[in-house]
Amino acid sequence: MHQFEIKNAYFDKLSRNPNLRWLGQNTNHLPLPEEVKQAISDAVVDDAIRLYAPPLGIEELRQLILADLGLNDLSVMVTDGAIEGLYHACRTLMRPGDHFITTDPGWQWPVRFADEAGATIDEIPIYDSAQNFKLTIEQLQDAVTDATRVVYLVDPNNPLGICYSPEEINDLAGICAEVGAYLIHDCTYRHFAYSHSLAALHYPERTITTYSFSKWLGLAGLRVGALVASADVIERFAAAPPNNLGSNVLSQRAAIAGLKVKARWFPHVLQVQRLNQSLIKAATCQIDGLITPIYPSNGNFMIIDVSAAGINPDALVQVLQREDIMIRQGGYHSQRFGGRFVKVSTTVPTEWVEAFCDALPAAVDMARGLNEVGQQF
Ligand SMILES: Cc1ncc(COP(=O)(O)O)c(C=O)c1O
Repeated sequence: MHQFEIKNAYFDKLSRNPNLRWLGQNTNHLPLPEEVKQAISDAVVDDAIRLYAPPLGIEELRQLILADLGLNDLSVMVTDGAIEGLYHACRTLMRPGDHFITTDPGWQWPVRFADEAGATIDEIPIYDSAQNFKLTIEQLQDAVTDATRVVYLVDPNNPLGICYSPEEINDLAGICAEVGAYLIHDCTYRHFAYSHSLAALHYPERTITTYSFSKWLGLAGLRVGALVASADVIERFAAAPPNNLGSNVLSQRAAIAGLKVKARWFPHVLQVQRLNQSLIKAATCQIDGLITPIYPSNGNFMIIDVSAAGINPDALVQVLQREDIMIRQGGYHSQRFGGRFVKVSTTVPTEWVEAFCDALPAAVDMARGLNEVGQQF
């Protein structure tokens, strides 16, 4: 069977399991605000979904996204999830022979987009406590060349949960400016950070900030996000976008409703996910060889390093799936370091986290003895 069929069947099977505890995709499983559900049904009842949306998004949503980021002088292109924006940015900006820089670990999809565009790829290793699991200024300085076209920075980093300080962001953006590179600042997890700085404030000309509604608001299946950049950059993106007929109207209406109630609704989500992180850390401490090297995480997830326990992360993922618990293997994020860790998502009901913590000791033992590990995606 083709690989794409195997992969699709894998996720289809997971999504058909009504008992599955989703601790593997950084999706948000805490109850949606009623206002958002109402907006979704209103968009059907008032026939709004029978129209195409404006090509760059409903104006109210564009304004609310800018206000949420505090980037009122910039411009917005609403996309079908942040990933569509990333695809469009990588394919529009990169030509064969251009140089693309990102971190390892990081998020792999833009790497593949750049690769498909013919770019040369540099994945700079950051899985090292000596550098606080961050891209250092020296590393970026050494890596850039005149051919560097895009620096893709995931911040907070998925999977690590580290986040850059205002000074670090200023310096990293400064290096991009020196060589005229675009800085794609992937801020998908910004809302979970203890504090977060936007590179666009330092380097507005060529920073592209991505925005997602999948994680903080929990609309992953509705596919809505955005690119935020200078009007000149958005003009370029608007020339030949993959979806010039406008993003999903129902999703945009839900996103508008979410932004309007965010100040009231989101603090509770943050509180639950931080409590969940503390439970995972406590459970992990009890097991020989397991550590949580980055705690607290600035994302709605955290990694557990299993390398000292002598287990294969894929085996642990497989064993837990038998208990209806999905976590993610490190190999999803990094070929080089993926054999060392698993990732657990935390915007979930605390009972799910408790079930994970209860199952973990036995799962570690079983994973140690598992010889045949199935393919994970
Ligand atoms: C770093 C990063 N960027 C972008 C995305 C995609 O976000 P969206 O669901 O808005 O397409 C993800 C999803 O996991 C992600 O981890």
